[in-house]
Amino acid sequence: MNLSTLAISRYATKAYDPARRVPEALMEQLRVLLRHAPSSVNSQPWHFIIAASDAAKARIASATTGPYAANEPRVLNASHVVVFCTHTDLDDAHLERVLDQEERDGRFPGEEARAAQAKGRGYYVNMHRNELRDTRCWMEKQVYIALGTLLFGAAALEIDATPIEGFDPVLLDQALELEARGLRPVVMAALGYHGADDFNAGLPKSRLPEASLFTTL
Ligand SMILES: Cc1cc2nc3c(=O)[nH]c(=O)nc-3n(C[C@H](O)[C@H](O)[C@H](O)COP(=O)(O)O)c2cc1C
Repeated sequence: MNLSTLAISRYATKAYDPARRVPEALMEQLRVLLRHAPSSVNSQPWHFIIAASDAAKARIASATTGPYAANEPRVLNASHVVVFCTHTDLDDAHLERVLDQEERDGRFPGEEARAAQAKGRGYYVNMHRNELRDTRCWMEKQVYIALGTLLFGAAALEIDATPIEGFDPVLLDQALELEARGLRPVVMAALGYHGADDFNAGLPKSRLPEASLFTTL
C-alpha cells in the first residue's frame, strides 16, 4: 500500500449512494481501529455511537437542520454514521476503569507498576483539571485523534467518508439523549460510498505547499 496515494485519494465525500452499504466485516475493522486509537495517558475519554439503520440516521439528521442542512443528505444517505462523544467528565470512576482494564490486559507485573501508572496518569489529569482547567478541550483533542484514525482507515478499506462538525450539538444531545448518558457530542463521520452526484469526487485536492508546512532542522 502506498500511503501517499491513499492520502491524496481520500476526500470529504459530499453525496452518498443510499443503495450501498459498508459490509459488516469492514465496519468491524473500523470499530477495532476506533477502539485502539491512541489517547493521552491512555485516557480513552470517548464513546462512539454508530448509526446503521435509517431510523438511527434520521435521529442524527434532526441535528443537521438550518445552517447545517447541507449535511442532512450526507447523514441520511451514508451507510453508517459515527458520532464521536467525550464523557462529560473525566472522573475518578472512569480513570479506575481504565486502570483495572490495563491490569486485566496484563500491563502490570505487580502492585507497584499499577500505582506508578495511576500516579503518572493522575499528574496529567490533575494538571488539566486544576491548573489548565481545560479537561473538556483535552478530551476533545483525544477524540479528534480517533477521527483521524478512522478517516485514514476508511480510505485504506476504500470506504468513502465525511468528517462532520456542522451539526447542532444541543439538538443532537436531545435526539440521542447523550447528557443523560454522561456524554457530549464532538464530531461525526459519515461512512459509505459516494454517489454519481458527488461534486467533490472529481475535484483536485488543494493543500498549502510543502515548503510552507515543514521545517526540517
Ligand atoms: C473536523 C472536520 C469537520 C468537518 N466538517 C464538515 C462538515 O460539516 N461538512 C462537510 O461537508 N465537510 C466537512 N469537513 C470536510 C472538510 O471541508 C475537508 O476535509 C477539507 O476541505 C479538506 O478536503 P478533503 O478532506 O477532501 O481533503 C470537515 C473536516 C474536518 C476535518
